[in-house]
Amino acid sequence: MVEPLSVTSKRFMKALRGEPVDRPPFWIMRQAGRYLPEYRAVRAKTRDFVSFCLDSEKACEVTLQPIERFGMDAAILFSDILIVPHGLGQDVRFVEGEGPRLAPVTEASDLDRLTLEGFDQRVGAVYETVRLLAKRLPGDVALIGFAGAPWTVATYMVAGQGTSDQKPARLWAYRDPEGFQRLIDLITEATIDYLAAQVEAGAEALQIFDTWAGSLPETELARWVFAPIARIRAALKARFPHVPVIGFAKGIGPALPLLAGATGVEAVGIDAGVPLAYVRDQVQPTATVQGNMDPLLVVAGGKAMHDRVEETLRTLGPNRFVFNLGHGVVPETPPDHVAALARQVREWRA
Ligand code: CP3
Repeated sequence: MVEPLSVTSKRFMKALRGEPVDRPPFWIMRQAGRYLPEYRAVRAKTRDFVSFCLDSEKACEVTLQPIERFGMDAAILFSDILIVPHGLGQDVRFVEGEGPRLAPVTEASDLDRLTLEGFDQRVGAVYETVRLLAKRLPGDVALIGFAGAPWTVATYMVAGQGTSDQKPARLWAYRDPEGFQRLIDLITEATIDYLAAQVEAGAEALQIFDTWAGSLPETELARWVFAPIARIRAALKARFPHVPVIGFAKGIGPALPLLAGATGVEAVGIDAGVPLAYVRDQVQPTATVQGNMDPLLVVAGGKAMHDRVEETLRTLGPNRFVFNLGHGVVPETPPDHVAALARQVREWRA
């Protein structure tokens, strides 16, 4: 398989492959979002959030906004992890000021209401967004496709909303592991199709978001976090050996050094709770690392942010490292602070 030259030379792609770079590439989780006035202007023109994610022109437009304003090295497709349950036929809505609401799937018999049939048709607009982005992105900016990890997606499908402790999915997994496994398997199948179609449409790298991995005890991680991600990674690798995958399993601290080996991902996303020296000594030898500044430091800005950016770059850079936050940028973030952060990372040299 021959790789296009443009892919080879992008700083972000080099970092994921572990090749030397002049400075670490950077992007910011949730970089297209409510903290940007130009995002809010586009968002205001669509009544519901699912329709917004499935409006390819608008999704393409907001994906490009942070790139135009701040010059990130990678753009992440604008969509949401809950588009997969929508594609499986579950009713998904976002309630203003409250968050997602889904018709809950609480026992194995509810799985009969979900289906892979028609999945690509229900989410096809996302693939069209990726095709538009592949045409419109600046030549040195890499395009990241994404999906939620089966465990995290299941926590929303089962609870029917976001929860502070993911209790409904955790209980189902203990009480009826075979039934819960069927749900995980269904999401895994859908996610493989979904990510493969994003690659075919032009995504150059993929991120799998396991935001709620940390709500599981270590004994449960192998079955509900590592195994599904490993299945997705293996299926994609068989078809697209050159497309790297970033695994972001938030809150699993002491298990982070195992993630790459257990799943085959090329890069490991790191949340803000993990000490930099630990990342350097225990995780970076296993994979490229991505993270992990506290999003609230970008709200604060000034010297506190500046010093932490410098410390992060000095500890983890320049190679096998992608500068990012430890979780998504928050809505109250001043865009000027993101601009200052972007300038600092762009100008940094080892
Ligand atoms: O990073 C990006 O710029 C790409 C777009 C993206 C969104 N959601 C857009 C979005 C990505 C990668 C996600 C992932 C996502 N969605 C996750 C995993 C990562 C994480 O942040 O933990 C999760 C758990 C979700 C589910 C979700 N989506 C929730 C709980 C909410 C509502 C709460 C909230 O933070 O607003 C969303 C809505 C959502 N997804 C918004 C955006 C920009 C805000 C919606 C708005 O415009 O009002």
